[in-house]
Parts: sequence; structure tokens; C-alpha cells
Amino acid sequence: MSGPERLALPGEVAERIARARRVVVFSGAGVSRESGLDTFRGAGGLWERMRPEELATPEAFQRDPDRVWRWYAWRFQHVAEAAPNPAHLAFARWQELFPSILVVTQNVDSLHRRAGSRRLVELHGSLATVFCQRCGRRRPMAQAVAASPASAPRCECGGLLRPGVVWFGEALPVAALEEALEEAGRADLFVSAGTSATVYPAAGLIEVAWRAGACVIEVNPEPTPFTRLAALRLAAPAGQAVPELTAAIERCRAQAG
Ligand code: OAD
Repeated sequence: MSGPERLALPGEVAERIARARRVVVFSGAGVSRESGLDTFRGAGGLWERMRPEELATPEAFQRDPDRVWRWYAWRFQHVAEAAPNPAHLAFARWQELFPSILVVTQNVDSLHRRAGSRRLVELHGSLATVFCQRCGRRRPMAQAVAASPASAPRCECGGLLRPGVVWFGEALPVAALEEALEEAGRADLFVSAGTSATVYPAAGLIEVAWRAGACVIEVNPEPTPFTRLAALRLAAPAGQAVPELTAAIERCRAQAG
């Protein structure tokens, strides 16, 4: 495949897409790979070079807040320099095709938002904000990093400021998870893109949607534990596959009238 016009949808998938009204996009780090951001697992992934328990847990922050802060400040700088890629931009265009679409992301990089996706659930929080461990007050990460790039800053109340992301061992934001579960449970079309689908409870959304009868499409160069549920698997980078899928969906919906 070389251009957006090349992807032919299997008949049954085309029919289900033509009828689809409720759509959920579920994304992971692979969707931001072509924006220059690292994934977590696999060759070159962040967790190959660093141990999650030393950087992404409440215990790690308690033990060595400055080290954890520097890692998140570094990631924040990368994210700030990155731009949405054709996959983010194509998913944002899906709002014209499916007005009620919900994008559920495990990414903390704000790239779906910057691409223009408006109904967005950030299941693992966001790098864009920090909050005080003691009083809970939130403020922009940009401000906190500018004021204190190398050590964890403190709030006016004296508490430590921490990144607004979900760490291992922490609960996901309740309202975000509820909204994601509810939409997955009534989706006609569920697209899982760029995720290894190994971190729960997020990964469970795929099965929730499939059990409820959604047409599941997976976009990932590698298979995942949920590939078997996919009616269609696009084994290509998201920046190529999602624009191709978008063009195919536009064609099949135009044909269906
Ligand atoms: P992973 O790093 O686990 O998986 C990334 C997936 O993207 C892999 O399955 C790759 O095959 C795929 N991939 C790589 N390049 C791609 C591309 N160009 N296009 C499409 N897919 C590509 O990332 P997540 O599944 O997002 O959590 O990880 C889930 C959670 O684990 C993260 O939110 C983070 C992490 O630890 C926390 O920090 C709590």
C-alpha cells in the first residue's frame, strides 16, 4: 500500500462501518511514535532503558522526588517539541464522520487534543499539569518546569508538586474510566491503535467493546493479545494506516449514501 486510496475494506467490515454511529478510538504510545515520541515496550522503548518502578510509582517519587521530576521534565520537553502526526490529525477528522466519537487515550502527551479531538478521555492523566500532593492545587507543568527544571518544586503550602499522570499502583481517574467503559460498551466501531494492550484496566476496554458487539479494528505493526478479536487488523504504522483507513471509511460511507 502506498497511498490513502489503496485500502479495500472487507465487505462485512465496510457494512458495519457504514452503519456505525457510536465510535471509540483507543490509543496508545504507538500513535505518537511518528511524532518522535518513544513507546514504552519493545525495541527502543522507554521501559527497555528505565525501570518503571524507579520512575513511575508513588514510592519512587517518595524515595527520590528530584530524579522522578527530572524524568518527567525531560519527557515534557520532548512532548512540547513534538507535533501531532497524520494519525492524530486523521482521528480528529473523524469528528465530521462520527459526531459522537470519543477518543480514549493512554497517552499523556496532549497530541490528540492539539490535533483537534474534542471529546477526549485521558485515562492515564496528562503531562500538561502538575498538582500538589498536599493541597491538590493544580497548575501548568510548563510553569513548574520553567521555575524548577532539575528538582521537584514545592507548592505555596509546602507540599511537593507532582506530574498529573497516573502512576503504577494508582487508580485511574474515576470519571474518565466510567466514561470510557460506558462508550466502549455501546460502541458500533472500536479502533485500537498503537497500544500493546497489556496495561489494565485500560486494555480491558477492547474486550468490553467486542462483547457488546462492536466491530473492532486494530492498528499496530505487531500483534497484541486482542488481535484475535479484531475484524480487521492493519499491520502498519498509525501515521500511514489511519489516513488510509479514513479514506476507505469516507468512500464506504459515501457509497452507502
Ligand atoms: P506500549 O509501549 O506498551 O505499546 C506501544 C505499541 O505501539 C506496541 O504494541 C507497538 O507495536 C506499537 N507501535 C509502535 N510503533 C507504532 C506505530 N508507528 N504505529 C502504530 N503502532 C505502533 O504503549 P501503551 O500500550 O500505550 O502507562 O502502554 C500502555 C501504558 O503502559 C502507558 O500508558 C504507560 C505504560 O507503562 C503508565 O505509565 C501508567
